[in-house]
Amino acid sequence: MAILPVLLYPDPILKTVCEPVAQLDEEVLRFIADLVETLESNPGCVGIAAPQVGTTRRIIVVDASRGRKPVPNHGRMVLINPVIEWQEGEVMGREGCLSLPHLTANVKRAQRIAFRALTPDGGELSLEASDFEARVILHEYDHLDGLLFLDRVASLKTDVFRRKDYLPKNP
Ligand code: NI
Repeated sequence: MAILPVLLYPDPILKTVCEPVAQLDEEVLRFIADLVETLESNPGCVGIAAPQVGTTRRIIVVDASRGRKPVPNHGRMVLINPVIEWQEGEVMGREGCLSLPHLTANVKRAQRIAFRALTPDGGELSLEASDFEARVILHEYDHLDGLLFLDRVASLKTDVFRRKDYLPKNP
């Protein structure tokens, strides 16, 4: 297992539309273990997508239980070739991203979604998610299509904010 370096905006790989995973082989499973370890190495990180570490495959890891506030969630999910089946409602919320460590933004996302995906054990998952967890899934899903939250904000002037406290402060 290894913690992988996270690519930062404007790395062109972050703009790539990722390829579906064709086969769940050893290499893919090893990569997933590294992706999970990379997420867990970042305190408070609730999601990561394969292209953020330079692998343009349709794999995301989400874990809304790691957020600052307790919210309804399904715990850690590794979603391979995820599909958003439907979305409904609309809520504005603040988002951050490991690839844009110094920014946050107000982004409109669906309030509720249904999604399905393959899982690392070769099974299939079909679930609904709402609010914060839905936002995390949609944010990570966007990475697979080369989209960052900056592509979703209504106004770069009024909806994007400098983040002061993302990196650990020096004592
Ligand atoms: Ni992100």
